[in-house]
Parts: sequence; C-alpha cells; structure tokens
Amino acid sequence: MLTTNFLDFDFENPFMNASGVHCMTIKELDELSTSAAGAYIMKSATPEKRAGNSEPRYYDVPLGSINSMGLPNLGFEYYLEYALKQQENTKRPLFFSVAGMSVAENIAMLKEIEASDFAGVTELNLSCPNVPGKPQVAYDFELTEETLNQVFTFFTKPLGVKLPPYFDMAHFDQMAEILNKYPLAYVNSINSIGNGLYIDTTSDQVVIKPKEGFGGIGGQYVKPTALANVRAFYTRLKPEIKIIGTGGILTGQDAYEHLLCGATMLQVGTQLQKEGPAIFERLTKELASIMTLKGYQTIDEFRGKLKVID
Ligand code: SIN
Repeated sequence: MLTTNFLDFDFENPFMNASGVHCMTIKELDELSTSAAGAYIMKSATPEKRAGNSEPRYYDVPLGSINSMGLPNLGFEYYLEYALKQQENTKRPLFFSVAGMSVAENIAMLKEIEASDFAGVTELNLSCPNVPGKPQVAYDFELTEETLNQVFTFFTKPLGVKLPPYFDMAHFDQMAEILNKYPLAYVNSINSIGNGLYIDTTSDQVVIKPKEGFGGIGGQYVKPTALANVRAFYTRLKPEIKIIGTGGILTGQDAYEHLLCGATMLQVGTQLQKEGPAIFERLTKELASIMTLKGYQTIDEFRGKLKVID
C-alpha cells in the first residue's frame, strides 16, 4: 500500500531518516538498514573527518529540537567505503550526503562519487546553518547557480539538493527558476529553520553552547514552513524533479500532509532522534490507517492533491 517509486526503484514505503539523525556510524546506519524505513541516508560528509561544534550542541525541547552540530562526521572515505560494501548486499539504493565547506570541496567529493562504483543517490547539502563563519549556500542564489553549473559539467548520477526553508514567494520563484535549469533528481525541503534561540527559563540561559545558543530548529515548530516549501516547489519545479518532504513529521497525519503537498519521499529528523528507529514502524502503520479511512489504495491517488479555497 505504501510502495513508493522513486528514481525507478520501488521502495517499500516513503519514510527515511533525515541526514544527521542516527546515521553517523556504521552501527547507526546498520540499525536504519534493518528498521522499517523505506530508505536511509548517511550523515553529510566533508572531505576529512570533523569533530563538529562543542557540546552541548543538540537539545530536545517540548515542541521540537534545537541543534548546532557543525557537521560532525567520520569523513567522506568512511561513508563511501560503507556505501560500496552495503550495495553489494542489496538492490535498494543508498543515499549519500555531501556538505563541503566550499564549492571546491563539494566538487572534489562529487568527482570521487562520479568516478566510483557508487550506484545510489547523492544529496548535496546546500543548507547547513551551523558552521560558524559559513553562511548557507542556498541563501546565496548566485553561489547556488555557480555550484550547480560546475556540478553538472561532469556529474551524471542521480543528484538531489537539500534546501533550507524559504519564506517569501519571490524566493520560491527565484530558487525554482534556478533549479529548473538542471537535471536534478529531487529537492529535499526543508533543513532546520536556521539560527533560532531557545531559553531555559529556570537558568535564564541558552540550551546549546555553539554560537551563543543559536541553532537550527526542528520538530513540530517547523511543519507549516516545511509544508509550504514542499508545496511551493511541487507547484514550481518541472515534474522530473521530485520532492523529499522533511520537517515536523511526528505522526502518520504529518506524513499524509507532506504527501498531499506533493512530496514523494519523507524524512524524519527530530522525532527519530527522540524515539529511535522503531518510529518507522509506527509511522508506516499510522499512514496506512489514514489511507484506509480515506479509501486510498496507493499514495499516488492523493499525492499533490491539496485543495485550495476557491
Ligand atoms: C549539522 O551538522 O550542523 C546539521 C546538519 C545540517 O543542518 O545540514
């Protein structure tokens, strides 16, 4: 019932982890691989291993989470080696995420992926808000275009981009115009809402250490923004560019809403962090029950069919 065709592969269901959550080590990746998730993605890699920002750098709050991880990861080669081994055992495509500190680093990693035997999907993360001194690439439209221009001179494997949230119709239009110029497989909307601030009311103190407490917001807080971004890109991008909906998915109902807005795959971040990989079983059951109640046999029957008021 939840089978989802994405990039010519039938995934058992549309659910995945969001990159950054439960996907840094082989142990965590293996746990995702044996969970009920339809697919999974690795932590965004940088060319070399990175320790990331100082701790505490992630904090659960009642309506979501705040984080300033700063791209801690075990380095590009660690994830490439894992991916190449993993794909010997399964036909299910693996998602590889890269987040270089510069255009040159992104190009270098993508060239290695292109030259390798990696047969999965690559996500270029243009939206990490947490590296001090490095603004998010996707808020700089010229740099985004320059990056994609360079990437598509050589990259031929399926590639998606992870975007930050946008908040203005003009920005949806401008970004969609840029993205539509390229043979992108998908856009992933949204990364966390960057640079929020959460205060512990007992201590009058911020709750994470990096950047004096500023960090990306996820969870329930972000669902309306995520849905708006999914919808805005679904209605503006050429149909070949699919949407991965990420942001505020806690229940089957949240997943249903992302699909109604036009998402094909769905990623879960904050709530996966809170519940662990068992969440995927709950989400698949909840989504299937909603579909049964509404009389749908397949997701394609309602994907993108959000109604507006005439
Ligand atoms: C981080 O490592 O800071 C989070 C990754 C991201 O937001 O892209």
